[in-house]
Amino acid sequence: MNTALPQNAESPMASGQPHPHESAAAQIAGAATYIDDIPELRGTLYAAPVLSRVAHGHLLGVNTQAALTLTGVHAVLLAADVPGSKVLAALAGDEPVFAQDTVQHVGQVIGLVVAESVMLARRAARLVVPQIEPLPAIVDVRAALKAQSFVLPPVTVRRGDADKALACAPHTLQGTLEVGGQEHFYLEGQVAYALPQEQNQWLIHSSTQHPGEVQHWVAHALGIDNHAVTVQCRRMGGGFGGKETQAGHLAVWAALAAHKLQRPVKLRLDRDDDFLITGKRHPFSYDYRVGFDDSGRLCGLQLKMLAHCGFSADLSGPVADRAIFHADNAYFLQDVEITSYRCKLNTQSHTAFRGFGGPQGMIVTEAILGDIARHLGLDPLAVRQRNLYSDEAKRNTTHYGMTVEGNILQPLISQLALTANYKQRREAIASWNQNSAVIKRGIALTPVKFGISFTATLFNQAGALVHVYLDGSVLVNHGGTEMGQGLHTKVAQLVADELGVLLSSVRGSASDTSKVPNASATAASAGTDLNGRAAQFAARHVRDNLAAFVSGLDGVGAGAVQFAASQVITPKTTRSFKDVVALAYANRIQLWSDGFYRTPKIHYDKTTLSGRPFYYFAYGAACSEVAIDTLTGESRVLKVDILHDVGRSINPAIDIGQIEGGFVQGMGWLTSEELVWNDQGLLTTHAPSTYKIPTAGDVPAHFKVDLWPEPNPEDNVFGSKAVGEPPFMLAISVFEALREAVAQGCGDGKTVRLHAPATAERVLWALQA
Ligand code: MTE
Ligand code: HPA
Ligand code: MOS
Repeated sequence: MNTALPQNAESPMASGQPHPHESAAAQIAGAATYIDDIPELRGTLYAAPVLSRVAHGHLLGVNTQAALTLTGVHAVLLAADVPGSKVLAALAGDEPVFAQDTVQHVGQVIGLVVAESVMLARRAARLVVPQIEPLPAIVDVRAALKAQSFVLPPVTVRRGDADKALACAPHTLQGTLEVGGQEHFYLEGQVAYALPQEQNQWLIHSSTQHPGEVQHWVAHALGIDNHAVTVQCRRMGGGFGGKETQAGHLAVWAALAAHKLQRPVKLRLDRDDDFLITGKRHPFSYDYRVGFDDSGRLCGLQLKMLAHCGFSADLSGPVADRAIFHADNAYFLQDVEITSYRCKLNTQSHTAFRGFGGPQGMIVTEAILGDIARHLGLDPLAVRQRNLYSDEAKRNTTHYGMTVEGNILQPLISQLALTANYKQRREAIASWNQNSAVIKRGIALTPVKFGISFTATLFNQAGALVHVYLDGSVLVNHGGTEMGQGLHTKVAQLVADELGVLLSSVRGSASDTSKVPNASATAASAGTDLNGRAAQFAARHVRDNLAAFVSGLDGVGAGAVQFAASQVITPKTTRSFKDVVALAYANRIQLWSDGFYRTPKIHYDKTTLSGRPFYYFAYGAACSEVAIDTLTGESRVLKVDILHDVGRSINPAIDIGQIEGGFVQGMGWLTSEELVWNDQGLLTTHAPSTYKIPTAGDVPAHFKVDLWPEPNPEDNVFGSKAVGEPPFMLAISVFEALREAVAQGCGDGKTVRLHAPATAERVLWALQA
């Protein structure tokens, strides 16, 4: 925990304190409501999806007869039942609401069965028979590239002359890397509950990171105005990016069923269906050529990145862009050429997942640096340090033209290396490995530099409402959503401090499109930066109203009125906040307000991907030690030390939780979580029986997280930095430690052929390669 921060929970300031999550107690007691817990309205019906079992084909017709004869089945909806647009309102306009004419992946939704119980709907869905004439399917990313099968055109970013740099480099390496995708495995699966209201209006309960988009999609599919659709979300049981766009599908389907039957309809996906229908983290494949000098300093890099996007664009454009923006991770790439292919395959449409392409950008460069170090017989940490951005002439601009400011990685890495005892442990591991025939160990220390802001500049805006009631209690509403990350807690802390009241007198309310309109997705880790500031501004407006009023009462300047410890203090009097509120109301002073924030300084050219897409960078580093069994390929993460930069922490308990959770989720991506599609395009790992997320037992026995003690040098809320995604990429240290261990097992410092996830099988293959 950050020792630089006061740890006194009794402190009058709410921010900077490790307050528990606003829902923690209710969640533990089972009293926090998720959508499936909302008391159901009389007449509620249940929907289940009808899925394509074919990866690609002509949809000739759908036989619904057998399903419809079951008692209790009310309808089977197909594309013809969509009153508005039959194409989802997704940006690229390339996804049908229900498959029409063609099916494009195993698991694509062809229709919906609506029945009187969940199990009946699911049983009936299996009786619906789509007639599909199969077509050739693309289920391999390299085959997609060969066929020029893309969801969006390729993008190239270059600086200098990579070809020339490679031609005169003292050393070169070339290689490939394969990195798997990742299922979100939110504990609460995708779910929506659609309720008809009067006069063709709709209330949608949606487990979504983006209520505003759900509203827009539902209105588009029903052919009505946005004002006729209200979307609410109190909380999600996890989103991790998987509910940024793809919650919209569920809401649209539930709304269409509710519209057709004029009854409330709930759609909660079975876990296997959730796996088969919804997109995941984009798997990536890479081809590279790299040039470097005797010290391991990079001089030229040519990198091809193949993003496996699935059948539609969804968020693949910005995800693949963010991978380009993070291919440097923390390092200065002098002469570089990166080409990104957004490959179209007959699979689920891959989507946002914590890091949003950042992890896929960074991992290849980290793997390359590890290989360079082993090639030259150097310590990988020394090679990494040698390549870091530095203010030394011309080594502090990114390949997309942004100056790296406030870079703390040199001191941060040195400090972590010291506290984690990196050097001595690396030596101890080397001699231990010499004497251990079967078990080999590896250690790696890798940094993270993650750009904070939505790359689409327009999304970097937020709104909030703060209401002060007559008893002095405060309700705050903003455009962000709660998915477990603690956004509502942090926003309440900020509002409490702005009004000088106790945190216990501030409550956050459910996200609701009828309160704050046009809100961006809660994503890009920017939830608190954006909504926290908007809420702070809203609270400030109310405080200013009260200050002006009290300054009139006391005949002092408004600037002399202070709000602290639930009191309003002027040089003349001290009143309780509650009394001031009551007096102000009696004098017709406005006790609620809105707030609006937009991130300053950001701009970039979408065609060349150059400019300043990010307001600032979040930094961190992790040192991980692993052991592998060279006979079975099994591995364990033994020790992890993290030093991470959250600026001035608004809530160190929540921030450390985000760092721990992000890291373990990253470990899962790189070690045990494996998505296997067979040659027919069927995802064969579509349940927890075959898809393995980390368990409590996988958390390293030594797991130490420290916070970097300096505030954000940019003017960000409370001096904090965003924390949601950056720590995910600290887990690349685990992958690099595994590659070190494999290199030890191979014995001769060869390039390690270990791909991700480093399952036992892959570790074994790498040892035998
Ligand atoms: N933490 C929890 N517990 N559950 C989640 O779903 N999502 C992550 C991260 N942390 C997530 C989480 C992702 S992908 C993002 S972008 C951020 O939280 C979003 O919230 P924030 O912007 O408020 O940090
Ligand atoms: N990050 C996360 N989600 C997003 C982004 C981004 O940069 N752009 C659009 N959705
Ligand atoms: Mo997070 S992947 O930006 O929802």
